[in-house]
Amino acid sequence: MSKRLHNILDHISSGKGESKEMKDLKQRLALATLTAQFTISPERLKEMVYFMIHEMHEGLAGKKSTLRMLPSFVYKKHTASADGVYYALDLGGTNFRVIRMLIRQGELISTSSSQFTIPIEHMKGTVDGLFGFIATSVLKFITEKAPDDNKKGYSRTIPLGFTFSFPVKQMSLNSGSLIEWTKGFTTTGVQGEDVVRLLQQALDKTAVDMKVVALCNDTVGTLIARYFRDEHAQMGVILGTGANACYWEKSSAVVKDPNVQKEGQRETVINMEFGNFDSQCVHCLPVTVFDDIVDKASPNVGAQRFEKLISGMYLGEISRVILVSLSKNGLLAKSVADRLEKPYSFESRDSGLISADRLPGLNFTRNLLLEKFGINLQDSSDLYLIRNICVLVRNRAAQLAGMAIAATLLKAEKTGNATIAVDGSVYEKTPSFRAVLINTIRAILGEEADVRLVLQKEGSGHGAGFIAALA
Ligand code: BGC
Repeated sequence: MSKRLHNILDHISSGKGESKEMKDLKQRLALATLTAQFTISPERLKEMVYFMIHEMHEGLAGKKSTLRMLPSFVYKKHTASADGVYYALDLGGTNFRVIRMLIRQGELISTSSSQFTIPIEHMKGTVDGLFGFIATSVLKFITEKAPDDNKKGYSRTIPLGFTFSFPVKQMSLNSGSLIEWTKGFTTTGVQGEDVVRLLQQALDKTAVDMKVVALCNDTVGTLIARYFRDEHAQMGVILGTGANACYWEKSSAVVKDPNVQKEGQRETVINMEFGNFDSQCVHCLPVTVFDDIVDKASPNVGAQRFEKLISGMYLGEISRVILVSLSKNGLLAKSVADRLEKPYSFESRDSGLISADRLPGLNFTRNLLLEKFGINLQDSSDLYLIRNICVLVRNRAAQLAGMAIAATLLKAEKTGNATIAVDGSVYEKTPSFRAVLINTIRAILGEEADVRLVLQKEGSGHGAGFIAALA
């Protein structure tokens, strides 16, 4: 369907000497075409909900599924037994965080943390470079902020929880191998390896006296951080550079892993890796030709197709590809294509902020395009078209994220009194994203559902510390 619609767009190029009326008409036609492609009907949402539940069942059973449904080996437990000093390392994107946590009877008493930017040569370099950088950053943190923590014979070997926010096949709470990189990482020598072992070796080499006792995904950390304060926390969701969710599932449902399944009714956290939903066949995702362009140029072609529609790594890029395409067809000023030629130059933050511009004359959009990209637009109809495209990209992402949350709650039968812990820049910083997300969840689950979304800042790291404390 999207191909035929795109053909209309190919037909409606506009050239020099054309009247203003005709250009306006063509811009409206282009927007109507894009709206038809990017807006998801309630029927389509319902279809996706059922397909997602289907994939959850298949993934848990170990059958072919686009959802990996990975066991976390974190089980529901009373939180009061957690006590002492713990460290958490949080690696999931370009930033890496070291966190020191003091916990007393399940209460987080104090924290301190430092953030380090992972140099691009380590994101795309070798295993030794990446893990060496991590270990050195931990040593730097300890030396500057808590030197006693690393004194031999003075303190105990400190337990550490490692949040590693990529698809990992866990063998136990403290071992798991990377299935494949996402979010632009391509570091060699990590795929298929136990990332706990790699981290422990790097720490030992750097003379950091810590033991990695737990490994978790950022969604799992986010859920557990909330669960320590709120026993109704049912899901952890990340809507940031990447996108994913986890939830509490009955161990008996994890048919593919007898070690988990034997725990019976005890609830355990499942990392869905929903970013890969519907990737292989693209049965029901509203994928357009613009999404195909973004996918084809990514390092993981054909994978994470759902993530590529909803996460912060891609939203700006989708908008950019559309804007450049319209500009090349004469439907937007030529300078748009000239100035936005470079992939990923138009960030999701730009796209999100423009989507929220409601000022008459769209002066915010005008200034942003001028100041950041040197695009000086005279024609206000160009500004409106650009703003509306950013709205379409944003709303589709929020609708899809809402669909995934609703589907998970339906599968888990947790639509009453449910707290959803959410973190990530797209959720936190994109204006109106949350409103569209919550409206979609309500539309799918009905008014009687009782679902609260809470922003769980830094949950991914803190959760790893809590999991280490319970280990
Ligand atoms: C990864 C997930 C992660 C998510 C959010 C995705 O690209 O595959 O493991 O939870 O990003 O950071």
